[in-house]
Amino acid sequence: MTEPKPISGPGSTRRDFLQNGWRWLQYAVAASLIYPLARFLGYKVPRKPRTIEVHKSLRVTGFIVEHDFIIFAGPQGPWAVSRKCTHLGCRLNYRENEKILLCPCHQSRFTVEGKRLAGPAERNLPTFAVTALDANEDKGYLVTM
Ligand code: FES
Repeated sequence: MTEPKPISGPGSTRRDFLQNGWRWLQYAVAASLIYPLARFLGYKVPRKPRTIEVHKSLRVTGFIVEHDFIIFAGPQGPWAVSRKCTHLGCRLNYRENEKILLCPCHQSRFTVEGKRLAGPAERNLPTFAVTALDANEDKGYLVTM
């Protein structure tokens, strides 16, 4: 049985030294290639905030149904709730008489504040910031998603 050669010191040869150096150089090159690749694959592009102007008033019905959200009026001011179900993404309908958002696909139910009440959806709905375009809220609202 041969004894392992020391990496450096009196028993090592110039060949051992060069072989070890070559191996470490290969490791360094591999790491310098893998690290940027791993960072690239794990990188998530942050979503840009989207602002949507809604030129309707909440005074008539107390809510405005848009394609992606519903704006509600409250004593603390207006707020918007997403219409995308957190289960599989179906578009929610607002049931005005029950004051709930109902998913037509699998019947998940949410409050107007976006809190999950029942159904297969496990998360609450996202809410969005709403600002009035004018002081009297006649011109409409700006929703930041
Ligand atoms: S997609 Fe809404 S409950 Fe399934």
